[in-house]
Amino acid sequence: MTYTANDQSTFKVQASELDTSRLIRGAWLCPHPTKATWTSYEDAILVFDEQGIISELIEAKDWSKRFPSMSLPNISNPQGVWLPGFIDTHVHYPQTAIIGSASGPLLDWLETSVFPEEAKFSQSKYASYVASRFCDQLLQNGTTCAAVFSSSHVQATQILFSEFARRGLNGELGLTLMDRGAPDDVLCPSDLALAGCEELIETWHGHDQGRLNFCITPRFGLSCTPKLLKGAGELSQKYQLMMQTHISENRAELVATAEAFPEAKDYLAVYEDLGLLHERSLFAHGIWLSDDEWARIANAKAAIAHCPDSNFFLGSGQMSLAKIKANQVKMGLGSDVGAGRSFSMRKACARAYDASRISDSPTSPEELLWYATRGGALALNKPKLGLIAPDAYADVICVEPPPSFSMDAERYSVSQRANQRASQQTSPLSERSLEDLIAQLIFCEDWQGMLEVRTRGQSRWQKA
Ligand code: GUN
Ligand code: FE
Repeated sequence: MTYTANDQSTFKVQASELDTSRLIRGAWLCPHPTKATWTSYEDAILVFDEQGIISELIEAKDWSKRFPSMSLPNISNPQGVWLPGFIDTHVHYPQTAIIGSASGPLLDWLETSVFPEEAKFSQSKYASYVASRFCDQLLQNGTTCAAVFSSSHVQATQILFSEFARRGLNGELGLTLMDRGAPDDVLCPSDLALAGCEELIETWHGHDQGRLNFCITPRFGLSCTPKLLKGAGELSQKYQLMMQTHISENRAELVATAEAFPEAKDYLAVYEDLGLLHERSLFAHGIWLSDDEWARIANAKAAIAHCPDSNFFLGSGQMSLAKIKANQVKMGLGSDVGAGRSFSMRKACARAYDASRISDSPTSPEELLWYATRGGALALNKPKLGLIAPDAYADVICVEPPPSFSMDAERYSVSQRANQRASQQTSPLSERSLEDLIAQLIFCEDWQGMLEVRTRGQSRWQKA
């Protein structure tokens, strides 16, 4: 998919097809389809069709040439900048209520904080309450697509799907598979769990033209018997499903996994040997992978969900961005709520930046914002997401950047800025460089600035 904003040969829209409700004029940040870079437009009009699919992005300066009889549309949110919705490639819905539960490293935290909470999702009322709040949190933070671990309960997972569907969100959602290594009230025997998967596949897989899918979700090796993993691998092949799990996150987990799977030559082999390593695999963390495991992940075209805030919170270690880049492994960013402390993918970018500075591959804010959008789409095999280009979904968000402190504070008080921009029709991009803008969007963490969130071009959340 290429940009066509200035390419006369690919113009598709005729004046007669224009509907003012399907135009968004503003400043735009457009991720490159395959490289971690951005193009910006100070003033351009996004045109999308009845399905919420982008037809084109037309620069304002070219508007009158294209549509001589139509005046330029008004700017939507003059103080903001538009970009694709965020993609959270790893998040746990039944951990929404235990964010910040500081009960130690991974295995202690699971036992103390996570399993007792996830057991509550056997109650549909509780699941409904949390699912609704979880989806609201995603939307408020500009996340329009997520790969989500549910609890081990089929009904709680049905509820999550319904909440996603109601909001037009994209998702890869999975029943968390666990049949050992945890309290009974979060376990489900393999036959029942796999039947539950079939039921959820039947009801939801491919919903909304494939925007909502069922994802095979074994929690990790330690909570699954080989029988369950094998069944999961078979289902992922039978229905060509995405598969998500955790890998190589914590030292104690590595030792316990090696003991639990004596036949496996390393952690990746636990999954690989049972049909769970393929181009639709998404592994969270991947902190302690060997060079050989990295090579096999790359070879399989599997992806990594990088969860830096969780890695800090649980003291797990740092995932190697150098290995991602050297092996050209697909990668998205994950909030990993509730080990991650925020639903904000902007904060995930900031934590990924910090992690990159203290490990082996300093990475720029622009690259990280790309991973939080287009990179995530590629990691989830969703080519129509994370792009501002023809054929992509108009799943877009508008964020107001923080005040530019280099500006004359007397003349441009925060309260005047919006009016000033509206009257002068300047854009947030005319005040600063693209690099500065992106850095401010991810590092000024006290500044929320989310103005609007749309899926398929439809407004789903707006600042009150
Ligand atoms: N490994 C197995 N389960 C989990 C979980 O819920 N969160 C994290 N961060 N790691 C896990
Ligand atoms: Fe996780």
